Amino acid sequence: MKPEGAQEPAPEPIAPVPEATEPAHRRGIHSFVTRRGRMTTAQARALANLGPQYEIAFDPLVRDLVGNAQPTDAGGQRRYPRTILEIGFGMGGATAHIAGLMPDTLFIGCEVHEAGVGALLKLIGDLGLANIRIVPHDAVDVVHTMIAPATLDGIHIFFPDPWPKKRHHKRRLIQAPFVRELAEKLKPGAYIHCATDWQPYAEQMLEVLGTEPLLTNTATGYAPRPAYRPLTKFELRGLRLGHGVWDLVFRRV
Ligand SMILES: C[S@@+](CC[C@H](N)C(=O)[O-])C[C@H]1O[C@@H](n2cnc3c(N)ncnc32)[C@H](O)[C@@H]1O
Repeated sequence: MKPEGAQEPAPEPIAPVPEATEPAHRRGIHSFVTRRGRMTTAQARALANLGPQYEIAFDPLVRDLVGNAQPTDAGGQRRYPRTILEIGFGMGGATAHIAGLMPDTLFIGCEVHEAGVGALLKLIGDLGLANIRIVPHDAVDVVHTMIAPATLDGIHIFFPDPWPKKRHHKRRLIQAPFVRELAEKLKPGAYIHCATDWQPYAEQMLEVLGTEPLLTNTATGYAPRPAYRPLTKFELRGLRLGHGVWDLVFRRV
């Protein structure tokens, strides 16, 4: 019990909120929510059987993932002359499709959703794809610590979570500090390809990519869908209903 007449301690002065100069993820804001999601038996089997061969664990001591992930032949030559990073591959349908079209390119996919990792591993097994590696971790950390500058030939970010509510916009992946990091990881002339079906996010992408000095737009505004990006069932249905999809393709200067 408080002694009679005791003074309440003076309230702590409220410190001003510091300017958000740090990238969002370093302030503990993530572009995803961890979904437990049910995994099918086939996905779990693929995870157990193929995971050890195709997954690369997040390791902050690795500074050149592209060099490390590249299989080499007996003479020390890289088997895949090109490397493309995909962020948030979901269930991996587009990844597997594109990897099948480009057998001379190594695809490194980052995804935090375990069922999605299982789904892509299953596709790798079913389709016999050798040119995919998976890092089951937050791509923001992977890009920040594991990818050396000027080592990527391309970056794919298809339908990143749109975070439509204003108070969640800070969770969006495509923001200036992260785009600067991504641009630095591209070789000169290499590309970043984003696609979204959420118009306000498309506008943000155009603004952020368009004001990054290391990047130049390949189109005037939005780009035509490159032929390698498959139309998903969801996208086809949306297009039939008159909904839009926006592709953006920028190159590293
Ligand atoms: C809306 S889904 C789109 C999936 C897929 N690209 C497609 O086109 O169907 C976004 C995916 O990005 C993943 N994701 C979001 N932020 C991520 C991050 N920082 N690192 C890795 N994956 C992320 C989510 O788990 C989710 O599977």
